[in-house]
Amino acid sequence: MNAPERKGRRSATPFGPFIDRVESAAFLDPAGKAIGKRFRSAVSPGGLKDALSGTWLGHALHPALTDLVIGSFLSATLLDVLGGDTDGRARSRLIGVGLLAAVPTALTGVNDYADSEPGNDAVRRSGLLHAASNTAGLALYAASLAARPPRGVGLRLGGTSALLLSAYLGGHLSFSRDIGPAQTAFDPGPGDWTAAADASQLPHGRPMRVVVDETPVLLLRDGDGFFAIHDRCSHRGCSLSETGAVDGEHVVCGCHGSTFDLRDGSIQRGPATAPQPAFQVRVSDGRVELRRLAAN
Ligand code: FES
Repeated sequence: MNAPERKGRRSATPFGPFIDRVESAAFLDPAGKAIGKRFRSAVSPGGLKDALSGTWLGHALHPALTDLVIGSFLSATLLDVLGGDTDGRARSRLIGVGLLAAVPTALTGVNDYADSEPGNDAVRRSGLLHAASNTAGLALYAASLAARPPRGVGLRLGGTSALLLSAYLGGHLSFSRDIGPAQTAFDPGPGDWTAAADASQLPHGRPMRVVVDETPVLLLRDGDGFFAIHDRCSHRGCSLSETGAVDGEHVVCGCHGSTFDLRDGSIQRGPATAPQPAFQVRVSDGRVELRRLAAN
């Protein structure tokens, strides 16, 4: 099963037609798919991928790093506009900081981009343009280091325009296409004991998807006990019961390999950055009931 694709969120802003065109640009798909595939084959789940994803931080790392890059480059442009840097040294240092910070920022961005697969065309296309705009901005600021005014000023203004386009697309990906937020953030599941299934119909050792108060839940019978965690992977929303593999007291998401502890939903391995909501389970009158763990 693919991660759920978000559709039908056209905004009525002046940028709506532009976004429509970008997200319809199927010719971008071969390049986008190739980049994602190559990155995924080079960086497997765990270690480096967790570091790039922000698993250790508790949310995506990429947006935090972009502030450093954009802030440094735009400050250099502001010195052109406002003056006060007659020898150009402050401007050069700011551009140097931006170029250095761009390396980890680009790596975290490609990492997040690779996880937009499988199956989200709109994100793949706008993400590719986001990356291309960043690359153009970077190249223009780097070229401006060796250029004299007014050419250097023009290159930096061009770089600023490219970065603003990129920032707009980055915001669109995060806030309109939900790339980055924990997919369970607004759906913690029932707080009171709620019927989930008929105990006699639950298979042993095989995860089953049940819907409890509109919350999808992975329910697993293990001997006399039960495990229950949110079924929508907090990373990109894949169904854990449909794509995942249970390994003892853990479940491994089939989309990008995040591993969660079935006892409390905690992350054992990223790229997820948020744990799964987990549930207490009891059997009452032959019915399996569950409620949120107090810690969720
Ligand atoms: S959706 Fe990415 S690891 Fe589950």
